[in-house]
Amino acid sequence: MKPKVLLSRKWPAPCEERLSRDYDVTLNDADVALSAAELRAAMDSYDAVCVTVTDTVGADVIHKNQRARIIGNFGVGVNHIDLDAAKAAGVAVSNTPDVLTEATADMAITLMLSAARRSSEGERQLRRGAWESWTPTHLLGRGLRGKTLGIIGMGRIGQEVARIAQTAFSMKIVYYNRSEKPGGERLGTVAEVMERADVVSLHVPGGAGTDGLIGAEELALLGPEGMLINTARGTVVDEPALIAALQEGKLGSAGLDVFAQEPHVPEELRVLENVVLAPHMGSAVVETRVAMGMMVADALDAHFAGREIPNRLV
Ligand code: DGY
Repeated sequence: MKPKVLLSRKWPAPCEERLSRDYDVTLNDADVALSAAELRAAMDSYDAVCVTVTDTVGADVIHKNQRARIIGNFGVGVNHIDLDAAKAAGVAVSNTPDVLTEATADMAITLMLSAARRSSEGERQLRRGAWESWTPTHLLGRGLRGKTLGIIGMGRIGQEVARIAQTAFSMKIVYYNRSEKPGGERLGTVAEVMERADVVSLHVPGGAGTDGLIGAEELALLGPEGMLINTARGTVVDEPALIAALQEGKLGSAGLDVFAQEPHVPEELRVLENVVLAPHMGSAVVETRVAMGMMVADALDAHFAGREIPNRLV
């Protein structure tokens, strides 16, 4: 009998095909998020449950003596999974690092350029028929060359953003990270980075340790000409404080791919012209998403073959 595997969302076709060959897979063609009760029931009746950032896998979902012995997360961030509960229940959890580093870094750079050059604002103006003429002062943005980029969280993605910014735009890099990393000048505190940088890009993991890391004080240090880029997790930033700073001109602009309560995006953010918004699409590249799915499949294969599970977190 093939092991029973549940995919909580629709996955790229090559990944679904591979898993369907080797396992008794339940696909989610409707692509709707599962409730906690459904996830808990799945843990009881499947051998493996594969989840995404849209699934909240808390201590109410994971408990001892469930049938599933592995949770394969389609994504690198696991702040939506209670790893302590999984560990206590003896359930393995794997994720998908590395393969999405470049795609996510590219999205940070996309948001940075777009916010700096006001391209979304220009497109909105054009689409509503409000563009009247080329003029010397129309939609003036800011250049990135020679400016200072602050990276909060100099892991794989942070380092790649720094590398692109340095090589493509000659940006000076300062960063905050617990340990020394290559690619820039390490500063002692988040506040120092916010103060020194013209643009700050967030690359810390979400979760209790980083929730609200960037609040009103930090945003004020970045200042009226500063730009905040967030492709990490919405909860890292105090969203009401961010909205207030942007509304009051205490922060110049922002590029946001993630939000505190996805898919909800506050109306106040949606109406601001100095914000570029994206619906959590940092890793949304065909090759990347296929690689992510294949990585989860590799973890399942190892688990069911009794081998060491690659990218196992607990
Ligand atoms: C990730 O991989 O963490 C993405 O944000 C989707 O979960």
